[in-house]
Amino acid sequence: MYICIELLSTMDKRELKEAITALKKEKNAVILGHYYQREEIQDISDYIGDSLALSREAQRCENDIIVFCGVHFMAETAKILNPSRKVLLPDMEAGCSLADSCPTEKFRAFKEAHPDHIVVSYINCTAEIKALSDLICTSGNAEKLIHAIPEEQKIIFAPDKNLGGYINSVTGRNMLLWDGVCMVHDAMRAEQVMQLKAAHPDARVIAHPECNAALLQVADFIGSTKAMLNYIHSCGYGKFIVATETGILCEMKKNNPDKEFFTVSATDSRNCNCADCSYMKLNTLEKLYRCLKDESPEIVMSEDLMNQARKPIEKMLQMSKSLGIIK
Ligand code: 13P
Ligand code: SF4
Repeated sequence: MYICIELLSTMDKRELKEAITALKKEKNAVILGHYYQREEIQDISDYIGDSLALSREAQRCENDIIVFCGVHFMAETAKILNPSRKVLLPDMEAGCSLADSCPTEKFRAFKEAHPDHIVVSYINCTAEIKALSDLICTSGNAEKLIHAIPEEQKIIFAPDKNLGGYINSVTGRNMLLWDGVCMVHDAMRAEQVMQLKAAHPDARVIAHPECNAALLQVADFIGSTKAMLNYIHSCGYGKFIVATETGILCEMKKNNPDKEFFTVSATDSRNCNCADCSYMKLNTLEKLYRCLKDESPEIVMSEDLMNQARKPIEKMLQMSKSLGIIK
């Protein structure tokens, strides 16, 4: 028996979680959640992870339904990797500024203007851009994958100029960068990090490579969400200035209850003085329940598009395995 919409809006988080768990079992569904999701969504997810780990989970998933609690490009990736499953996204408006920054036709023209380059795209892009790419990467494997490409091979890197610039600086490459940014990470300022550092001189600065170059210059550690979590856990330090989306603090605090965290906020045109990704936060428990009940909104793409987009993602997963980045 399903819960009607009126009653749904009166339920507290515990009741909603119970209703979702029952529905998930009934429909043989799995919930994949990104570290940037709301705490209550992370709590109810069967797997939480970064983009790389979640695409691996999606690929080997045997459930009938995958509910992807993340953003649109992540749910698309899950569908591409496991097309016989029904993939749901609780809110179809959960997009990404990086994916939006790279329109297909403009990018196609850019690629055609540089026929001697291969295209490596960050996973934060649409299925259409993936279909135009030779290799996909995530923040968790980008450096090693780029290292593995012969030095003489020219590369276009899209759509994140900050991640691309960072990879250029650590690998000595000169990849041609598409001009896209993450609206959350790019708006974090090095000046604010320095203010926090003055107040907490013994804190380590950890930053996601989607942050701008000035901020990355003052970071002690740069890495993907998963790499940051590993660093906090294994290093001997007790205080951290965190330059990434705030959702990750749940996992940081859960695994390191005795450590202290100070967040860098993004000050930008969004009139937001926080480090929340408004897209990531669109998914709520109520929407999660409704999407499982209605089996909608569903991610749907043409076979052709999925087949084209799958090649560079599978190549990434194969290379990541052979380079020992994933199992
Ligand atoms: P990762 O989880 O791969 O570090 O990506 C961060 C991000 O911005 C996802 O949108
Ligand atoms: Fe996109 Fe940035 Fe939000 Fe990640 S945090 S989904 S890159 S806008």
